[in-house]
Amino acid sequence: MFNLGHFVRIPHQERVAQHSPLLSTFRLKSKVMVTNSTKNSTSTLNTTDIPSSNSSTDLGSFFDAASESESSTKNINTTLLPLCPDVSSNLRGRVEVLKSPVPTVQELEKRFSWLKPGGHWAPDTCRVLKSVALIIPFRCRGEHLLLFLQHMHPFLKRQQLDYTIFIVEQDGDGPFNRAMLMNVGFKEALKIRNFDCFIFHDIDLLPEDDRNLYTCPPGQPRHMSVAVDIFKYRLPYPAIFGGVSAINREHFQLLNGFSNSFWGWGGEDDDMSNRIRYHNLYISRYPLTIARYTMLTHKKDKPSPNRYDMLKQGPKRFDRDGLNSLKYKIVQSKENLLYTWLLVGIDTPS
Ligand code: BGC
Repeated sequence: MFNLGHFVRIPHQERVAQHSPLLSTFRLKSKVMVTNSTKNSTSTLNTTDIPSSNSSTDLGSFFDAASESESSTKNINTTLLPLCPDVSSNLRGRVEVLKSPVPTVQELEKRFSWLKPGGHWAPDTCRVLKSVALIIPFRCRGEHLLLFLQHMHPFLKRQQLDYTIFIVEQDGDGPFNRAMLMNVGFKEALKIRNFDCFIFHDIDLLPEDDRNLYTCPPGQPRHMSVAVDIFKYRLPYPAIFGGVSAINREHFQLLNGFSNSFWGWGGEDDDMSNRIRYHNLYISRYPLTIARYTMLTHKKDKPSPNRYDMLKQGPKRFDRDGLNSLKYKIVQSKENLLYTWLLVGIDTPS
């Protein structure tokens, strides 16, 4: 089903770089194996399923009900601080991935009171040169959102990153357009801050090893979700760029972002993979032993039947279908403690 490498027309032989700058230098402080303790329900969830006192269906009003947490904003002249190390000494290697119980917003806000509004954090003992925006396309996955936030905030903090989490939710119930939401996340994040690095992240993928650094390598885009449990921890096909990927600001602009033309499940990440090759870039990867992910269970969407045709025609559209043709409106937005939320209106095909 997922081994569709032959459908992705690749002009050049792919160079899959198995970067392992970290392996030799790490000593694991502790080794905690992944546990999949509880079987999850496979029902499609909407935000009303989140245990909460609020019954509204969008995340903005849902989070209105959450307690206001103190943000630990300190006035620090960061230019006086030493640079943070490239690899934080707080890393643990393998980390536990919890699929249950699902925490509440209030629990997470209390636990992560060190966050700054908008789902932002940066170390206050050292200076980080590059800022990272995590862009998460979203709709109707309330429980996954809470599990994702529970996992990611401490994970990113241990990596000593200067990061912000953006949840980009598609308004309405038309066909989902994951790629368009990622383009919107990119554009809107840049209005807030000139982020250097963008990590495009499915909400149902949780990293199992914190040596998998959420940064953008200077030279090339990086495919992060190399080894996913449901794919038996193997790369399904060499050109894959789906799940979690890191692209720096300049490259994303050069690539004209993602195509806006892929509606429903599949293909948009393969099109991005083709854009990368078309621009003489290649996909870098951490080794399978580090870039490991657990996928949260959910009802699988039906793959879009016309994605192969769209893919074939892709190269004709690279220059005119993407960031430069993106149309959307921000219906609502809010800086919650745990993330910045954007509710996005897009015209869906009839
Ligand atoms: C789809 C991609 C997806 C991959 C792995 C391919 O068939 O086109 O969008 O990421 O399968 O599931």
